[in-house]
Amino acid sequence: MQTLTVDLGERSYPIYTGSGLLERSELLLPYIKGRQVAIVTNETIAPLYLEKIKSLLTSKEVTEVILPDGENFKNLDILNRVFDGLLEARHNRTTTLIALGGGVVGDMTGFAAACYQRGVDFIQVPTTLLSQVDSSVGGKTGVNHALGKNMIGAFHQPNCVVADTLTLNTLPDRELSAGLAEVIKYGLIRDAAFYAWIETNLEGLLARDPALLAEAIHRSCECKAAVVAEDEKESGVRAILNLGHTFGHAIETAMGYGEWLHGEAVAAGMVMAADLSARCGWIDAAEVERLKQLLIRANLPVKAPEGMSADQFKSLMQVDKKVIDGRLRLVLMQKVGWAVVTDEVPSGLLQETLEYFTV
Ligand SMILES: NC(=O)c1ccc[n+]([C@@H]2O[C@H](COP(=O)([O-])OP(=O)(O)OC[C@H]3O[C@@H](n4cnc5c(N)ncnc54)[C@H](O)[C@@H]3O)[C@@H](O)[C@H]2O)c1
Ligand SMILES: [Zn+2]
Repeated sequence: MQTLTVDLGERSYPIYTGSGLLERSELLLPYIKGRQVAIVTNETIAPLYLEKIKSLLTSKEVTEVILPDGENFKNLDILNRVFDGLLEARHNRTTTLIALGGGVVGDMTGFAAACYQRGVDFIQVPTTLLSQVDSSVGGKTGVNHALGKNMIGAFHQPNCVVADTLTLNTLPDRELSAGLAEVIKYGLIRDAAFYAWIETNLEGLLARDPALLAEAIHRSCECKAAVVAEDEKESGVRAILNLGHTFGHAIETAMGYGEWLHGEAVAAGMVMAADLSARCGWIDAAEVERLKQLLIRANLPVKAPEGMSADQFKSLMQVDKKVIDGRLRLVLMQKVGWAVVTDEVPSGLLQETLEYFTV
């Protein structure tokens, strides 16, 4: 097992990564202060891992909340089921919520914990690669709105994160690839050596070599934890974690939630961001090609979905949270291993990228 700390003063917390962690009650119990616990999960994950977690919590009064599975259920309507469960079982302010699942369950549970009785504790037990390297760390929680993804939410940090790599053995291949998109993202934004390591080890990662997956998760969390510690509420550098996401969110919204996986949309979005970075003269066209080759090997898309227009991208990107006072801020690459946030991209170059990817 490896341990990292997200360094946020009083709100600091550990990230435990490794194999077989769902056998170890000592990783959960110290982070549960009261008697009541609510495990929030979904219909797919419950039959796989719910009993396992419950068996660690025999000393607690446990409520289960099982949500329907899917990004299209990540909304306020379905979120209410968590509050129903908590109120029906009379959970008080000392309750602890446990998010058992991928990013959808994690984001919803975290948001429920931020709101319930004005804020209660929660623990992340991520079970997808994407949630283990990204969504479970950093305290961004929330749900989608019909007019924009993740538009309703709160910052609320977990008490701890327990990422058991064994859970990845039941994950569908497509989901594994989607998670790799975020792993590749960390290499691109802050760690050129890690990027090269991924290029070398991609086939092993796809084959779920446990040691390679553990290393990829640890290094990804290291990067995320460092960026979050520097800028918890995204007033600056944290935005680099959104490389490819402004384009990607436009794709997700245009396609309807759940058609393209988040990581798939991010993959295509990172190629678009790299393309724009090249048009700005920051990176070589060869680096765009290098990224494409890596994503293709990871079975990820490298272009926008058919049928999307440049205008559609532009209007959807304006809704993105990265817009401040009407100026679109984008995350671009100055080189492999170094991304920056900029609001100074000439609109003509953005137009060129959008047209190139939408013909
Ligand atoms: N909060 C953040 O900082 C942050 C960062 C990145 C992404 N996100 C959010 O995360 C969400 C995407 O997360 P995701 O990719 O984990 O998707 P997900 O939560 O929808 O999970 C993907 C699918 O895998 C299933 N699943 C989960 N674990 C499994 C397992 N171990 N075995 C078998 N099946 C399993 C789920 O039921 C689901 O069908 C998006 O809503 C995105 O907005 C949030
Ligand atoms: Zn993401």
